Amino acid sequence: KETRHCSVGSAIEFAVVVLKVECIVVIGHSRCGGIRELLSLKDEGPNAYHFIEDWVKIGMEAKKKVQRENRLLPFDDQCTVLEKEAVNISLRNLKSYPFVKDRLNKGTLNLIGARYDFVHGSFETWNA
Ligand SMILES: *[C@@H]1O[C@H](CO)[C@@H](O)[C@H](O)[C@H]1NC(C)=O
Repeated sequence: KETRHCSVGSAIEFAVVVLKVECIVVIGHSRCGGIRELLSLKDEGPNAYHFIEDWVKIGMEAKKKVQRENRLLPFDDQCTVLEKEAVNISLRNLKSYPFVKDRLNKGTLNLIGARYDFVHGSFETWNA
């Protein structure tokens, strides 16, 4: 989602337009507290946090998809899938910036998704 007074958006614009970075890697990780919170969030009724809740809700769409497609998986495994799906949401949001779209079309920018698993010591990557 594009928000005009967003520090993240200006950092990305600076990196892409001024510094001309050639690659952006969005990295998720194992045992993510934000992802656990998102997956534990009640759909209705009061939740414990406000700022955290607004932030993790960016991944709400990913949560719904993961729950729909992985209903039979244990909670921890659903977290693992959601850690990757949330990266995919970030990659999709990145692509909504016009200057990112422009560089992708020109082939001067690469978007990579990744997940670092510090429990098993693995690092998985995929192209956006
Ligand atoms: C994330 O995106 C990749 C590449 O499009 C896709 O293969 C993968 O299934 C998506 N979701 C997850 C949970 O990895």
